[in-house]
Amino acid sequence: MNTEIDKRDIFIRGSKILLKALSEQDVYESGWYGWFNDEVATEFVQQHYFPNTVQKQLEFYRENIARSSTKIQLGIVPNGTATIVGVVSLSNIDFMNRKAEFGIMIGDASARGKGYGTEACFLMVKHGFERLSLNRIYLGVHAQHTAAIRSYEKVGFVREGILREDVLMNGRYIDTVIMSMLASDFRTLYSTSSGV
Ligand SMILES: CC(C)(COP(=O)(O)OP(=O)(O)OC[C@H]1O[C@@H](n2cnc3c(N)ncnc32)[C@H](O)[C@@H]1OP(=O)(O)O)[C@@H](O)C(=O)NCCC(=O)NCCS
Repeated sequence: MNTEIDKRDIFIRGSKILLKALSEQDVYESGWYGWFNDEVATEFVQQHYFPNTVQKQLEFYRENIARSSTKIQLGIVPNGTATIVGVVSLSNIDFMNRKAEFGIMIGDASARGKGYGTEACFLMVKHGFERLSLNRIYLGVHAQHTAAIRSYEKVGFVREGILREDVLMNGRYIDTVIMSMLASDFRTLYSTSSGV
């Protein structure tokens, strides 16, 4: 396994992490497919219903990432390391209405709580607003997912609504919180600073 990232794959550089273009190599050489078999990593996401396999991950990569023009998914790599610890995405990219949906998974448990998720979120929305010229980035999050909500609020997302009893979890219906950030919010927050 490589100990250094191939610099040609680096897409966005941050202070703690970098975001890299994903490849079939990441499917084989990182923990990626296994994160969706992990009960803890998937506690608050609508996954872990059917087991994931390296083959399914490869198909997902080929069909949804490799040539997509409506989804950008990037690998999260802590600076100085070579393996992805998570993935971050803009999906449902709608260039007519200039909006997209944000998503993130820090799959490697040892990489959570170190600020990587917050920085990955910031770098991805910056790319969305500044390079893709989006006007609105939105997301849905499980109402009890304190860490994720805190992380999104730190970047500048605001709560805009509740989908009542949206998901069934352990026999109880749980609300989904809809959050969003507008290009004008981003400019107001970051016109005089370079990051979170
Ligand atoms: C949610 C997630 C993206 C957060 O990323 P992270 O790198 O672990 O979080 P950060 O280190 O950037 O911390 C974000 C904030 O949440 C807080 N936080 C972290 N874990 C927490 C917890 N268990 N309870 C409450 N707050 C918590 C941090 O303290 C930090 O706030 P602070 O700076 O004010 O202290 C990441 O944990 C993850 O991907 N989890 C699994 C998949 C998932 O749930 N994805 C999101 C679906 S909506």
